[in-house]
Amino acid sequence: MPRIRVEPLGIEVEASRGETVMDAVGARGYFWPEGCDRAGECTNCAMEVVSGLGRLSGMGRHERANLVRQRGARSIEDPRLRLACQAHVEGDVVVHKRGVIAVHAGGGGTETA
Ligand code: FES
Repeated sequence: MPRIRVEPLGIEVEASRGETVMDAVGARGYFWPEGCDRAGECTNCAMEVVSGLGRLSGMGRHERANLVRQRGARSIEDPRLRLACQAHVEGDVVVHKRGVIAVHAGGGGTETA
């Protein structure tokens, strides 16, 4: 199973292949900042991919258009900026997202920090 490490919280969760980063982390007991019910429109869930960029699904037209609309054309120059609600996990990745917090104990993640 793919593993997602989330910095700076320092957690690691397992994901099902094809699950979005946000769904995988959320299902294992963590809050991920969002603002459009995972529709790919608000960009509040945007994360930096630290490693494993090629192990996420490619950026689709919808994600690209909303990043440009919300954050400007330069936002898509760096491919490491992805929307966690749109990026599907194909293998191990490390991402950085401030604001991810544990919402209840025993969610299945591993605190490694
Ligand atoms: S939650 Fe709004 S773009 Fe991902």
